Amino acid sequence: MSEYILELESITKIFPGVKALDDVSFKIKKGEIHALVGENGAGKSTLINIISGVFEPTKGQVKVDGRPEKITNPGKAFDLGIGVVHQERNLIDTFNVAENICFMDVSTGKSKLIDKEAMKQKAVKDMERVGLDLDPGQGIEELTSGKKQMLEIARAMCMDSKVLLLDEPTASISLTEADQLLKTVKQLREEGVSIIYISHKLEEIFEIADSITVIRDGKNVGQTLPASSLDKDKLIELMVGRKHVIETYANREFESAPVVLEADEISSKKNTIPKSFYLKKGEILGWYGLVGAGRTEFAREIIGIDPVRKGTLKVKGQEVKIGSYEEAFQKYKICYISENRKEEGLFLQHSITDNIGIIALKEICSRGGFISYKKQDEITEKYKKSLSIKAKDIFVETASLSGGNQQKICIAKGLCVNPEIMIIDEPTVGIDVNTKGEIHSLIYELSNQGISVIVISSDMGELVQLADRIIVFKDHEIKGELENNKDYGSMSTKVMGSILL
Ligand SMILES: Nc1ncnc2c1ncn2[C@@H]1O[C@H](COP(=O)(O)OP(=O)(O)OP(=O)(O)O)[C@@H](O)[C@H]1O
Ligand SMILES: [Mg+2]
Repeated sequence: MSEYILELESITKIFPGVKALDDVSFKIKKGEIHALVGENGAGKSTLINIISGVFEPTKGQVKVDGRPEKITNPGKAFDLGIGVVHQERNLIDTFNVAENICFMDVSTGKSKLIDKEAMKQKAVKDMERVGLDLDPGQGIEELTSGKKQMLEIARAMCMDSKVLLLDEPTASISLTEADQLLKTVKQLREEGVSIIYISHKLEEIFEIADSITVIRDGKNVGQTLPASSLDKDKLIELMVGRKHVIETYANREFESAPVVLEADEISSKKNTIPKSFYLKKGEILGWYGLVGAGRTEFAREIIGIDPVRKGTLKVKGQEVKIGSYEEAFQKYKICYISENRKEEGLFLQHSITDNIGIIALKEICSRGGFISYKKQDEITEKYKKSLSIKAKDIFVETASLSGGNQQKICIAKGLCVNPEIMIIDEPTVGIDVNTKGEIHSLIYELSNQGISVIVISSDMGELVQLADRIIVFKDHEIKGELENNKDYGSMSTKVMGSILL
């Protein structure tokens, strides 16, 4: 028996044209929470994929409990007691809750349990463990992304794993769900489970990790360190390779600026509580609320995806009825960048340049209707540079990019239509600290050029840093509106105050 449950020795992974991992090594003790941190594209998910049998390493060796193992497929990982929650959702839409939870047991033959009743009972027990209360017989398509995420976590946690791999498990769940998750993770550690935890939320890392390995550009940065020997600044410095400076954005004055978007008592069949707000030219308006507060739904009504029942909407002072998203962006130059990049944002099987090209058609088409691929590539190169999109070139499939880099492409797509109003839904979920700063300064720059921006975020720090004004949502209602004085302490007190109202 080894002191270490998992050892990675000199792991290298080469994809065609990309060395995603280069000689990475680390070890995890039994009953330890080991954090893996690094910027977008550093190679964290690739490591998870290797340990969980999705990819085989090009070189190097994985040892489980002291024994070298070839983890050639996910079933093998499961047999070795390795449970995983991947960065991307992995549920089967046509299965109900219980079937999704018991899927691995049945498919790997570990259990012949097709007994529906037994399956339901297991599902309820497993969900209880993570504080999830769903009907085991219900379908999953209607679940929010947070609930889906918790369901996957329940599944992985209840496989009696010796090792649990969690790749950004809290990226799209509410604060309460995240708290519950962290508690469960700590509980599992008490039970002797070893956990690899990946997150861009460094507070979480410091809350739960025993040890930290930093990965930069596919390589180890120094040795694995005890979490207690680091602080946030030191950790960021290791991740990005230089001192990290947090930008501050000046307070701005909008008194004389024209209102570009105004909603007056808007309600819909689903959201019956009327809501009003205004947005001024060049202003950044934060929409704060917890996941599930109804901000995305409201945005969808504004941009014509879901129908508005009552109330009026004005764009630049003119009353409008926006019947479709196409109309929103072609006629009124309102663009929306979805929080659901995978489902609504990108054509994953297509290259970066094709994803941009499809949106920038106007710019790249000649009068005769011919597409200039040269122009398309130039535009794409411009965004690749200005948003520091990390990819070998603009011709790679977007599916092969890291999560954060996919988000940057979604932002680039939004910018291509030369919007006057942008609604960006959770712009920095899953984005590393450094890139987060880049995206913030990009949004600020856009607003300085006169674009009005609504930033929907569950990250109060982000809005206090960036927004000019913040409105607060709770339970599909606007609970307050606050001028932002950019002081986190006083703003968070005020925001919480309006939520409690
Ligand atoms: N299937 C693949 N084909 C080609 N390249 C890939 C593939 N999967 C990952 N890569 C590349 O490997 C590198 C590491 O990506 P990975 O997804 O591991 O990063 P990450 O650290 O998880 O980033 P993030 O924080 O954004 O999730 C990136 O350059 C990525 O483009
Ligand atoms: Mg990743």
